[in-house]
Amino acid sequence: MEKVGLSPLDPSSFSRPELAIVTEILINLNVNFDKKILLGDVELSVKKIDESVNEIILDTSKLNISSIYDVESEEKLEYNLSDPLPEYGSKLTIQLPKKESNSYKIGVKYETHPDASGLQWLSRNATAGKKHPYLFSQFQPIHARSVLPCQDTPAVKTKYTATISAPQEFTVLMSAICNGTKELHGGKLSHFVQKVPIPSYLIAIAVGVLESRKLGPRSHVWAEKEIIEECAYEFANTEHQLKTAEEICGPYVWGIYDLLVLPPSFPYGGMENPCLTFVTPTLLAGDRSLANVVAHEIAHSWTGNLVTNRNFEHFWLNEGFTVFIERKIKERLESPQSQDFDAYTLVSDLNETINRLGKDSPLTKLVVDLKGVHPDDAFSDVPYEKGQTFLRYLEMTVGGPDVFEPFLRKYFDTFKYKSIETKDFQAFFDSYFSENPAIKSIDWQTWLHSPGMPPIIPDYDISLAIVCDNLIEKFLKWDGEGVIPITPDDKKDLTSSQIIYFLQVISEAEPQSIKKLEALNAVFGFDNVKNAEIKFRWLRTCLKANWEEKVHIVLTWINIVGRMKYVRPLYRDLYRWEAIRKRAQENFLANRHNMMHMSAYTLVKDLHLEL
Ligand SMILES: *[C@@H]1O[C@H](CO)[C@@H](O)[C@H](O)[C@H]1NC(C)=O
Ligand SMILES: *[C@@H]1O[C@H](CO)[C@@H](O)[C@H](O)[C@H]1NC(C)=O
Ligand SMILES: [Zn+2]
Repeated sequence: MEKVGLSPLDPSSFSRPELAIVTEILINLNVNFDKKILLGDVELSVKKIDESVNEIILDTSKLNISSIYDVESEEKLEYNLSDPLPEYGSKLTIQLPKKESNSYKIGVKYETHPDASGLQWLSRNATAGKKHPYLFSQFQPIHARSVLPCQDTPAVKTKYTATISAPQEFTVLMSAICNGTKELHGGKLSHFVQKVPIPSYLIAIAVGVLESRKLGPRSHVWAEKEIIEECAYEFANTEHQLKTAEEICGPYVWGIYDLLVLPPSFPYGGMENPCLTFVTPTLLAGDRSLANVVAHEIAHSWTGNLVTNRNFEHFWLNEGFTVFIERKIKERLESPQSQDFDAYTLVSDLNETINRLGKDSPLTKLVVDLKGVHPDDAFSDVPYEKGQTFLRYLEMTVGGPDVFEPFLRKYFDTFKYKSIETKDFQAFFDSYFSENPAIKSIDWQTWLHSPGMPPIIPDYDISLAIVCDNLIEKFLKWDGEGVIPITPDDKKDLTSSQIIYFLQVISEAEPQSIKKLEALNAVFGFDNVKNAEIKFRWLRTCLKANWEEKVHIVLTWINIVGRMKYVRPLYRDLYRWEAIRKRAQENFLANRHNMMHMSAYTLVKDLHLEL
């Protein structure tokens, strides 16, 4: 099925930047918590590319537009808003002012819809403080259009400035540098500047009653005061991670690197909004063991934010590269064994995804076809893990990190501030390594365009996994009689990553008896664990054993935590368990109003609720 009206260059956008392009955005919005809307105007600088056109096409979703005008003359402009295409929004076609020059400034006065898919309006009860509401955004992949009229394709990158007015007691944060706040009759104006051109999906806003702590010379962490100290402890290594990323990738161009720890309903682990990474509070393990997510978001400062996929069919250029760099940071800060352990163990998660989607599913290709497929439906760990596996393979083929890392820096420097496709990467690689005979053996076609598992899995150092594999084998072979063959001493020597892997394998094995799991819990204390990655895998293992008393614990957790990485598999597990299916569906329906649009949208499908 082809979605009529969508761009031939980006199947997820109506816009046609090859005809007329937005070059700069000025945002002027007021935050209204009572009505759950943003209202105000944007001014778009527009440049005509094709002389023969006299219109510009923008993406919008559920925006209530009151007028569109030429900023210079203040004259009204004619426009047409198409009927909405579900989940893609409406195409907005604006007649350009009649004048000699090729540059225009167009103003749009509007307000957002209370159900804008890119925003989550939290009531005070959903916050840690329980006194004030909270607003945050998540625009990737294609939800910016629900907050501002824009060319909502990563092919277009612009600078932006913003002025946001909010009630006095709130802090407004954006993916930009705040260059001043000013009091204004009972409210507060905050000014922001993003001087580096970015795609629309990287515009971000959060408004809450927040505090901050300094983490390093260019970093603060922001959160509600109830958790701020915990956050400052957990992310204390941020500057180390940043410096290491710069050694690998080149200079950090964004000025500051702040973190915002969101309320638990945030749908992702982290979002690499420039100058201000958004992260889930499920990273607060108490022992810094999940801070690799921050290394991942830091890596995006080059892969994704500086060099950007031209559309989401080439998402692996963002995510595969980012996982690859994240693990290089880990190699430098921990050890080569840790880097390889992550790569090796995440192959097993990838295998689970590919088994679920089907090994012939087109969504398991590295480069996907999004014609007729919403990018929220295509999302999985395939571009992440298959992508990083491909890069590890390329690195190994050309002669290792000493040869590959200079290439990487050249690649970032060549394509910074641009949006590219896979063929641009391939051509650059081929030309850089043209003298290297080993590249002839690379089967690009299979790696990029064949479904299923990666054709080659590099020889990783699996020394950290072997320890776990021995314990796993002992546990799985145990018949449940007598004493469990794993001792507290065995546990003592395992890192959090190893325990995560241990449980991952157990959760994928045949269902275990409740008796065996009770014994395992007695050694590891899984019932009271704070680390969300461990808790998640423990609960999946319990569900697989049809351990009924854990169902309530699972439902309670997924009613609070919105991170899709946990919520979706747990709901799918509950769905598979026939006796529980109805209860899971009812629980979802009763709680979907607390979820962000993209979480609810994907869960409706996972739970076969097609409403
Ligand atoms: C913030 O920066 C913008 C762009 O550089 C400038 O126009 C504006 O005056 C600055 N605002 C403040 C309050 O410094
Ligand atoms: C992937 O899963 C399949 C089916 O369970 C299994 O046969 C195969 O060995 C797994 N491959 C890897 C690399 O884990
Ligand atoms: Zn990422």
